[in-house]
Amino acid sequence: MSTAPGRVLVVGGTGRTGRHVVSLLREAGVPLRLLVRDRARAEAELGADLDLVVGDALDLELGPAFAGVERIVSTLGSRDVHGGGLRTVDLPATARLVAAAREAGVARFVLCSTIGAVPTPGVPAHMLEWFAPKGEAEAVLRASGVPFTILRPGGLHDGPTDDPRMIDCSHVARALVAALTRDDALGATFELSNTRLQRPDADPLLGVRV
Ligand SMILES: NC(=O)c1ccc[n+]([C@@H]2O[C@H](COP(=O)([O-])OP(=O)(O)OC[C@H]3O[C@@H](n4cnc5c(N)ncnc54)[C@H](OP(=O)(O)O)[C@@H]3O)[C@@H](O)[C@H]2O)c1
Repeated sequence: MSTAPGRVLVVGGTGRTGRHVVSLLREAGVPLRLLVRDRARAEAELGADLDLVVGDALDLELGPAFAGVERIVSTLGSRDVHGGGLRTVDLPATARLVAAAREAGVARFVLCSTIGAVPTPGVPAHMLEWFAPKGEAEAVLRASGVPFTILRPGGLHDGPTDDPRMIDCSHVARALVAALTRDDALGATFELSNTRLQRPDADPLLGVRV
């Protein structure tokens, strides 16, 4: 990262992408706090020496989680994509995190969204019905006045993949961590998939600025 950030709040750190984010930040010696729903599982998966705040982003009083926090990265996501989970979980939880981040005066909110969160060439219209709440969550962040970077990955894969529509979770995690401090990512939205990375205008880490 270009400069060492102060304390970073990670939301979604027990997830496929979030756990890579946690590893990268720990390796870089960045002070961390994690918002997790299950302390025992977080400690089993990520280690016992972490600063954990335990609760659900949908109803936890978030002020204490943001105390002393300079930046936040959220990979929060409902796995019930087809059952409306993005509308009942991702959108309201992200809106609450954005409000708390504004209250705390954080220096950067890095949000993991998805390709297809807004109408996008190559993404079938029916998928927009699932993904639109991600676009609405992006809009909440953009309108909040909180400094932000939004990353929209394609389909996530646990490990390397040649599928053009997909991207390795660990690459996404590196991009999210870089976006915490890169000056040229401030206020920007990027799309990141194997196809996007092939484009001549792509940033090799963050993908294509949209
Ligand atoms: N899967 C894909 O192909 C894909 C494609 C593009 C974008 N995305 C987006 O990329 C991001 C990362 O995806 P992923 O597959 O790595 O995620 P994931 O493995 O499903 O992990 C999601 C994380 O969010 C946490 N979470 C969910 N609801 C929460 C709540 N109400 N309060 C607090 N934490 C909550 C989960 O905690 P628990 O461990 O307690 O469940 C978990 O840590 C998500 O925003 C997702 O929407 C995914």
